[in-house]
Amino acid sequence: MTELQKDPITRSDFLGFGFIGAIMGAILTIPPVAFVLGPVIKTDVLGKSDISKGWQEVGKVSEIKAGEPKDFTIEFPLTQSYGDKSIQEKAPSSPRSNKQFTLRNAVWASWKTKYKPNGSQGKVSRPSFLDQKTEGFSQSEIKEIEKNLNVLSNSCAHLGCPVRWVITEGEGEFLCPCHGGLYDINGDYQGGPPPRGMYHYKTWEVRENGKLYVKHGYIIQDRPDATQPYVV
Ligand code: FES
Repeated sequence: MTELQKDPITRSDFLGFGFIGAIMGAILTIPPVAFVLGPVIKTDVLGKSDISKGWQEVGKVSEIKAGEPKDFTIEFPLTQSYGDKSIQEKAPSSPRSNKQFTLRNAVWASWKTKYKPNGSQGKVSRPSFLDQKTEGFSQSEIKEIEKNLNVLSNSCAHLGCPVRWVITEGEGEFLCPCHGGLYDINGDYQGGPPPRGMYHYKTWEVRENGKLYVKHGYIIQDRPDATQPYVV
């Protein structure tokens, strides 16, 4: 009589496989479900930055020389909310919630400059009356100043490193020390990984007292030939 062949999978093996299968199924299914139900499933963790939208004083425009940008340090008040909502509701003074910070940034201001075909700097549009007066400007003088000014952030348009003004063989340019991004004095893209020129402040003005003021916020415009994303 032939010996009955032993079933290779016992009942306990079968139950064990079923258990492992259930775990694997959960691992594979929960993330997509969480993704689909994302708007429904809410977490209690909050994180939000709120930068002041008010005017910040930058400095005197008469200090900006022809052919050489000037950097000014400015400070934006910033409120950072971060913490567990339930803890915050019970203890509004939770140390991780609603903290006030000061965000220090730099503004590079320069006079609009034309470039010659050989790449060297040409005509610089610095109003000549700035050699005689530094404040008490009329409305037409303010218009003339504003028409000719570049107001730029010092954050590189690639990954945000602070750019520097460097002079090589008598010609200056903005250089980013992180990955070698290059920009001319107007903030226009010259080379390297940045997908655009330097960020121009969107809202700024010059007042009668001869000072420049800005609000937080930039004009962001990609180079038409930029390859996105470009991350080193
Ligand atoms: Fe400036 Fe990369 S951060 S080139």
